[in-house]
Amino acid sequence: MPETITITDNRTGDSIEVPIDRGGVDAKEWGKLLPGVWFHDPAFGATSAAASGITELDGANGVLRYRGYPIEQLAEQSSYLEVAYLLIHGELPTAQEFEAWRYEITHHTFIHENVRKRFMEGFHHDAHPMGILVSTVAALSTFYPDAKDIEDRDLLMKQVVRLIAKMPTLAAGAYRHSAGMPFVYPDNSLDFAANFLSMMWKTAEPRYEANPVLARALDVLFILHADHEQNCSTTAMRTVGSAHADPYISTAAAASALYGPRHGGANEAVIRMLTEIGSIDNVAAYVEKVKRGEARLQGFGHRVYKNYDPRAKIIKRTAYEVFEVTGKSPMLDLALALEEVALSDDYFTSRKLYPNVDFYSGLIYQAMGFPMNMFTVLFAIPRTAGWLSHYTELLDQDSRIYRPRQIYTGEPARDYVPIVTR
Ligand code: SDX
Repeated sequence: MPETITITDNRTGDSIEVPIDRGGVDAKEWGKLLPGVWFHDPAFGATSAAASGITELDGANGVLRYRGYPIEQLAEQSSYLEVAYLLIHGELPTAQEFEAWRYEITHHTFIHENVRKRFMEGFHHDAHPMGILVSTVAALSTFYPDAKDIEDRDLLMKQVVRLIAKMPTLAAGAYRHSAGMPFVYPDNSLDFAANFLSMMWKTAEPRYEANPVLARALDVLFILHADHEQNCSTTAMRTVGSAHADPYISTAAAASALYGPRHGGANEAVIRMLTEIGSIDNVAAYVEKVKRGEARLQGFGHRVYKNYDPRAKIIKRTAYEVFEVTGKSPMLDLALALEEVALSDDYFTSRKLYPNVDFYSGLIYQAMGFPMNMFTVLFAIPRTAGWLSHYTELLDQDSRIYRPRQIYTGEPARDYVPIVTR
């Protein structure tokens, strides 16, 4: 049986046979038969916008691999910085390559003093940290004008290192500003997660020592959030990057998409939902409210996973390790009860709605002391490596500018009517 499809234009009787290649059919091919006819797919539910070798999802079986390596093995054996190298360069680093990479990242964690003093301190005291992060990431493009030379691979890699290294500094700075706390400079003697925790929580002590269990748990969460194929924010990254905007501006666009409650803002929405439910006694009533379409079960459902999100399984396990240190989150039992009720209800199982990456992550962040408005920021920090790996891949593929077509549904041509006669 040939791996092809045949499309026939019944208006002319003409047909074309198009190969099915790696699960897709090339639009250029059927475009020859149907010039000016567009396959309409507004939310890209059935459309491939890119060929990518970075991350592979198998939604039906709940599989996630970065550059071929299963997420379960990376979460168990790797570190976020090593995973960031893997995503960007395509291979796991040798010991020497990793040491050079770690040195580069560690020595690019500082931000220009004007970013702190002029931008961060210029925000209102209760500015949402994501608003501060998006703005300051975009502002970084004005400090590194050579970032516009995206064809120079060495210069591009320098911006990649700067962005991966500075995201935690910007993120912690955004928090410290909103908390009315002094800015904490990076401590280059600490690893990635421990340094971020130091910039978040250091007060009067000469050196902040993060609890190693919490630092490792955060690093695992960073691994799990590092990339996820053509999600909404990565599509934003590739769209803006396809215009050859510089890496900082493109990253700010991606972070803006992540800010949405349907995407990276869901971990914050889960805690708000659990707070609204309040107690296990109210779970059944809330589930009924969702089934009536009056609310969404935040942290449930996924465009690709029609099975349990493999990251949610690892996060759920990590939660217990964190709670050993911090004490169990009072919302854990509520979340477990909600999951149990939902997964035994046909409304959710028939729609293949399972917990996703956001359902349990917020419980961990809350137990670690992060305020809710920092949860999406905690998603943006690691996802920066994923966004930049797609940006780099897009350039390597010499991709054309993203410019989809449309189905026009507006008014037919008509003549202007002067206001005096309207
Ligand atoms: C992330 O794409 C990625 O990879 C994203 C991400 C990543 O790592 O980058 O994995 C991170 O964004 C995870 C998703 C976080 N968002 C949430 O948890 C918010 C709640 N979830 C939903 O809003 C929703 O499930 C989406 C946005 C995640 C997916 O939306 P889709 O694919 O457009 O699904 P849909 O809206 O078409 O829903 C299909 C059906 C509908 O019912 P019917 O109209 O068929 O009767 O399922 C229902 C929806 O009403 N549904 C839900 C639901 N999600 C979908 N019903 C109740 N609660 C939900 N959460």
